[in-house]
Amino acid sequence: MNRKRINIAVDGHSSSGKSTLAQQVARALHYTYIDTGAMYRAATLFAMKERLVTPTEVNTKGLEQALERMYLQFRFNPASGSSEIHLNGVNVEKEIRNMEVAKRVSLVATVPAVRKKLVTLQQRMAEDGGVIMDGRDIGTVVLPDAEVKFFLTASPQVRAQRRHAELTAAGKATTYEEVLENLLLRDRIDSTRTTAPLRQADDAIVLDNSELTLDEQFDFMIATVRKKLELFG
Ligand code: DC
Repeated sequence: MNRKRINIAVDGHSSSGKSTLAQQVARALHYTYIDTGAMYRAATLFAMKERLVTPTEVNTKGLEQALERMYLQFRFNPASGSSEIHLNGVNVEKEIRNMEVAKRVSLVATVPAVRKKLVTLQQRMAEDGGVIMDGRDIGTVVLPDAEVKFFLTASPQVRAQRRHAELTAAGKATTYEEVLENLLLRDRIDSTRTTAPLRQADDAIVLDNSELTLDEQFDFMIATVRKKLELFG
């Protein structure tokens, strides 16, 4: 039995399968899974409710001031078996997955005050170890000392197909082209923003999963983590 509880960072592009894999690994290890994308999406929903963001513009000053009224929290839902994000006490897990939020989230994620607030929260959640966190800046900014870091990627076409299938299954009407366009735009904003751009940590293990099954990726990740844990005895 390993007693040491490490932290695991999972970064990568939108719809590269980070959250599905990170959740599976968390279950297998009895670790806590933290979806930082959900936090940026909830912050976006907050900005939308406060009328501080459109698909092309964000009111940085206004949002900075409003942030003190934004309270985010994950609460475990026994019905779904996972932790769900709450914005000011309301479960918004479903609402944050719609296209209206997707169209604005990269903009909100460029606001330094938003990142500062969310990064502080994320670091606090990982203080005691035993966390697997997925996002864009986990291995580089949030948990630079994470014992294991993965960087997941896949071709934009494969990612758009996956995302389109997910949205269709959830009954959300979109076209493949709309999803691909949104994804390419988010990639560009996420990779070129000045605060904490999406970037591979030097010590991250890169996993291009365009042609790998979920099982193959899961086995690889678990084997990598177990090897690391053996080092701690
Ligand atoms: O993982 P996701 O697609 O749910 O993330 C939504 C958006 O949030 C994504 O466009 C980039 C942003 N994000 C971020 O800037 N930093 C993170 N750690 C996680 C997400």
